[in-house]
Amino acid sequence: MAPLLPILLLLPVLLLVGGAADAFPASCRKVTTCGEHEISYPFWLNSSASDGNCGYPGLGLSCEDDGTLILPVHSHRYRVVLIDYDTNIVAVSDTDLDVYGAGCPRLHANLTLDYASSWLQLTSSDSNITFLYNCRKNISWFLSSARELSGCSQGEYDTKRSYVLPDGATTGTEAYECEEVVVAPVLGVHKTEMVDPPGGSPPLTNWTFGGVVGAGFQLTYNTHSEQCDRCEKSHGWCGYQRNESASSGLRFTCFCDGGPTTDRCSTCAALSCCLDKTSIENSARRLPTAGFFAKTKKN
Ligand SMILES: *[C@@H]1O[C@H](CO)[C@@H](O)[C@H](O)[C@H]1NC(C)=O
Ligand SMILES: *[C@@H]1O[C@H](CO)[C@@H](O)[C@H](O)[C@H]1NC(C)=O
Ligand SMILES: *[C@@H]1O[C@H](CO)[C@@H](O)[C@H](O)[C@H]1NC(C)=O
Ligand SMILES: *[C@@H]1O[C@H](CO)[C@@H](O)[C@H](O)[C@H]1NC(C)=O
Ligand SMILES: *[C@@H]1O[C@H](CO)[C@@H](O)[C@H](O)[C@H]1NC(C)=O
Ligand SMILES: *[C@@H]1O[C@H](CO)[C@@H](O)[C@H](O)[C@H]1NC(C)=O
Repeated sequence: MAPLLPILLLLPVLLLVGGAADAFPASCRKVTTCGEHEISYPFWLNSSASDGNCGYPGLGLSCEDDGTLILPVHSHRYRVVLIDYDTNIVAVSDTDLDVYGAGCPRLHANLTLDYASSWLQLTSSDSNITFLYNCRKNISWFLSSARELSGCSQGEYDTKRSYVLPDGATTGTEAYECEEVVVAPVLGVHKTEMVDPPGGSPPLTNWTFGGVVGAGFQLTYNTHSEQCDRCEKSHGWCGYQRNESASSGLRFTCFCDGGPTTDRCSTCAALSCCLDKTSIENSARRLPTAGFFAKTKKN
């Protein structure tokens, strides 16, 4: 029962805060849905961008009519499988995957993340595999690890072959004279299940490379900047607006109960000072999201 007390003490503060609600763009606190997905800060639906930009710039999602949730990364589209707000992980899969026959997963673009500045990063659960399409050379002849894909050739007289390098290698691939090389992140655990163990015994499951790619991979998201970290630690919400004259092309705003600021929320505003500071910090941060987590965990 002890945790209830700080929450009760906080109620008057929250009511006051409610009065200042227009200080925030609605996207800071609102939980929206798309199909089965619940979308909340730091993600935002790009259709609601006009009500202000609360959330991280790289995490604008679009919701398609059929309830498919799309994460664009450098204008390439990834389908969102799951967002885990507790672990900051979003599971996605490439929407471009064409499977020509069971054996030939056709991809068209590499995942492009700017490692220095991206709000999204690959996780340690991910592993790469490399697809080489329509090659003039027989790669199996050079590399014993290469697997030939079946069903990629365009007709009886097509002598070009397509391959997979399960180790995700890309160096030296020009030598094989392939039309296209694509590196695909996949979950390491799926890859291990399908690729023969070193002893040479047959794979244990019926995974195909198309299945492994279709099952997707994980990205982790974070504040990416000290500025946003500082704002969130002060119980604010980070927002960004386009501004060509700012060095990053984005103007940062920290949305606080007291209104938007350019830095962080003042930690000891108004009534908060009368109450124990730590308990406020703990409960204030959890309150808006607690209901949401409880809901998602039931599924
Ligand atoms: C939202 O994202 C989708 C997919 O990337 C894009 O087609 C659409 O134009 C975007 N809408 C807005 C308002 O930015
Ligand atoms: C993907 O990345 C590899 C290695 O960096 C490169 O050789 C290849 O051309 C890229 N493919 C595409 C479609 O951009
Ligand atoms: C997978 O490829 C990306 C670049 O496409 C690279 O940054 C990443 O480190 C690679 N991951 C692994 C596990 O090799
Ligand atoms: C490619 O080379 C491998 C290994 O030398 C051989 O087993 C296979 O038959 C060759 N494939 C084609 C299409 O020539
Ligand atoms: C693989 O597929 C075959 C035929 O569809 C099935 O009989 C077999 O049980 C499957 N094996 C595994 C490990 O799922
Ligand atoms: C864009 O940023 C510059 C420099 O930080 C600032 O002076 C200007 O007011 C901003 N413009 C808008 C529209 O916010």
